[in-house]
Amino acid sequence: MTALGAAAVGPHSVESSSRPGLQSFEGYAITCVLAALEMAGLLEALEGAGLRPPPRGEGGGEAGRLLEASLRYLVQRQLAFEDSGAFKLTESGRALTRDKGYLVWLAGGYGEPLRRLDAFLLGRKSYARDYPRDGRWVAEGAAMLGRRDVAPQAMTLLKGISFETALDLGCGNARFLIAVCQTFGCRGVGIDLSPEACQAASESVRAAGMEERIRIIQGDAFDPAVSSHLGRAQLVITFFLLHELSSRGGSALVDFLSSLCSALPPGAHLLAAEVLPPRSRSGRPERFTPEFSLVHALMGQTLSGETEWRQAFRQGGFLVRDVTRVTMPGGVLLLGQRAA
Ligand SMILES: C[S@@+](CC[C@H](N)C(=O)[O-])C[C@H]1O[C@@H](n2cnc3c(N)ncnc32)[C@H](O)[C@@H]1O
Repeated sequence: MTALGAAAVGPHSVESSSRPGLQSFEGYAITCVLAALEMAGLLEALEGAGLRPPPRGEGGGEAGRLLEASLRYLVQRQLAFEDSGAFKLTESGRALTRDKGYLVWLAGGYGEPLRRLDAFLLGRKSYARDYPRDGRWVAEGAAMLGRRDVAPQAMTLLKGISFETALDLGCGNARFLIAVCQTFGCRGVGIDLSPEACQAASESVRAAGMEERIRIIQGDAFDPAVSSHLGRAQLVITFFLLHELSSRGGSALVDFLSSLCSALPPGAHLLAAEVLPPRSRSGRPERFTPEFSLVHALMGQTLSGETEWRQAFRQGGFLVRDVTRVTMPGGVLLLGQRAA
């Protein structure tokens, strides 16, 4: 611990439990700083061998000074320490960055629309027209949090079925699709609406040397044109996509599942990941699901419970083979199958 770090718990420290507003304030600033370091490609060094800001007067300029101030801020918050000019994470810092995907998803993906909530509340601006989410950071954050909190259970489920072609609707940066194709030796197609997500996906596919086996297509997964890719797909993956249909009202979800099911070959599987809404009567504050629900309300979307998902799958023609809770708070995996 440096002298600076020790000072942070000195006489000026405020007992956070008696000032919950300041605790929120700190959480917001810490989220923004850690997400920004990740998005700038700097967090890895801080997590590993150490991040060294450029020495003063050696061309670092304003950016170098700000990096140093950000790192000193993390020291003051006891999330980092300085060791011979290199900054490294403390154990508390490491515990926080294990969930960095959630921080990037929120601050990088939804930071701008959340910051404009006042204008939306007054009806002066609209989410979709004026301040939409950032596609790249929604995709990167989702992939990061999914790697820890969704992919392990999803891979276990996939080991129990057979498929040679996988179609990932709303593939984001395609990290999960790549892992599936590498693990199971199958071919893949990823479709995503966001040009930024598709660009990140194409870069990931190239970096993994999988261009021969995986195609990335920019398009609307709910467009009937997608059916041209369904005839050969023995596995369709939709992670955090299907709830988007809630903004299209009424029977949109069941209609989509029905057309998906009838276009797939007999015996094909559908693996969906979703987040269940906060349990309104649990009496205990929940982690993550209230924030997930809030940002989806921004987009005019609502979340469904497990019973509603099971029912929608059945009404769409899928047999519900498995429903598994994942380590993501509120997260659930649903495995459906078109009858053989
Ligand atoms: C939360 S991200 C999840 C990304 C990825 N499935 C994962 O789990 O890492 C949701 C993705 O769905 C995409 N998406 C939303 N609506 C879509 C649509 N109608 N068609 C295709 N992609 C869509 C978004 O651009 C975003 O990349």
